[in-house]
Amino acid sequence: MTTDDEGALRFPDGFRWGTSTSAYQVEGAVRADGRGESIWDRFCRAEGAIENGDTGDVACDQYHRGAEDIALMASLHTNAHRFSLSWPRILPEGRGRVEKRGLDHYDRFIDGLLEQGVTPLATLYHWDLPSALQENGGWRDRDTAERFAEYAAVCFDAFGDRVRDWVTINEPWIVGLLGHQLGLHAPGEKDLKASVTVMHHLMLAHGLAVGELRARGREDARAGIAYSLFPSIPDDAADPADVAAAVGSDGYVNRWFLDPVHGRGYPRDMREHWEKAVGPLDFVRDGDLATIAAGSDFIGVNFYSRRIIGAGGGDGPWPWSVRKGRPDVERTDLGWEIVPGDLTALLVRLHEDYPGVPLMITENGAVYGDGPGDDGAVHDGRRIAFLDAHLRAVHRAIAAGAPVEGYYHWSLIDNFEWAMGYRPRFGLVHVDHATQRRTVKDSGRWYAGVARSGVLPP
Ligand code: NOJ
Repeated sequence: MTTDDEGALRFPDGFRWGTSTSAYQVEGAVRADGRGESIWDRFCRAEGAIENGDTGDVACDQYHRGAEDIALMASLHTNAHRFSLSWPRILPEGRGRVEKRGLDHYDRFIDGLLEQGVTPLATLYHWDLPSALQENGGWRDRDTAERFAEYAAVCFDAFGDRVRDWVTINEPWIVGLLGHQLGLHAPGEKDLKASVTVMHHLMLAHGLAVGELRARGREDARAGIAYSLFPSIPDDAADPADVAAAVGSDGYVNRWFLDPVHGRGYPRDMREHWEKAVGPLDFVRDGDLATIAAGSDFIGVNFYSRRIIGAGGGDGPWPWSVRKGRPDVERTDLGWEIVPGDLTALLVRLHEDYPGVPLMITENGAVYGDGPGDDGAVHDGRRIAFLDAHLRAVHRAIAAGAPVEGYYHWSLIDNFEWAMGYRPRFGLVHVDHATQRRTVKDSGRWYAGVARSGVLPP
């Protein structure tokens, strides 16, 4: 953890240099080997739900190209990879019968990673809920949290000899907001009470799964949530009303999830906002908060951008609004503000608010549309600049004492970006979706140099 004379930045020994993906976004093969239907298979068929009518039916065909993609990781010199297990591949009906071919697939994938010296970080829930469970109410139904614990137990038993680190739930806020409040993600609901109910059941599911993991007595096994963390920045830092609004929005997006996992219960300010908006939170039962406080062995940070917040309604039913962002701040091709300094501040704040808990950047990345040029290469210099700035930001946070263990870039390969289909390209590796041809982008080669040396050039 040093800076050399020329200004190169060295990361700590053992730092995890990783890439990140999720099952529905890359695997395809949605009907292979007894896989059950997921809510995303169904949602993609709803008229107008996905740009261009795209679906994850084929995605990057990683189900059949796992070896090729692991070879790509080897060429990137990464030593870690985050991926998700598909619940409907393993339990096609969401409960009960286990599909051995699903387990076999992930056995091969995990073994392949380990053979290349790539440490797996497995996510259990990255949004592909088995449709059979949605028919019973999905995450609105408390029983789904119990079914998740059942599924988690199957995965711990099958892969726990080789997978040490687990992300239980990916982005509970986004599942509630986009899936159940705004209807933009599966299952496409628009119901505020449903969204907060679902978020609670996701947290409960995390706690129950952690209980299953602990019960297996593997001392070195660890679990955490990957949160969609957005720093809330007051529009006018000199205006106390904007400052208070930003604190409120932080409660909604960040503290609502972090606090209960770390034993503080739901934050009172946001609890009052929710109760005002939807009535009593009657789905929270005695003992739930103790279950959720089973804790987290690391905090997974998915970081992309920030929210600029001002006083006065506009963000759904809340007494604050999301403002446009600064005209002088650069943006990615998706229009997201590029704010690496806010990543440093976020990591330092997590270290201060939840001391002693290891941090992992479970996602960070940017959309740039660059594709192969006449020379066949992909010159995505803007992604290199993005990566460089964010890795410097991580290094600064580590220097300030934040215990950041690793960085998993989103994403290894261009993939299915949910409601936006295949248009946004997040990959270090370009995918021609018509031919499945992979081309390592300039950013991939640059990242390979950093991952191999553990040093960020000056
Ligand atoms: C968050 C999600 O976890 C992931 O699935 C998505 O593709 C990226 N962010 C980019 O939006």
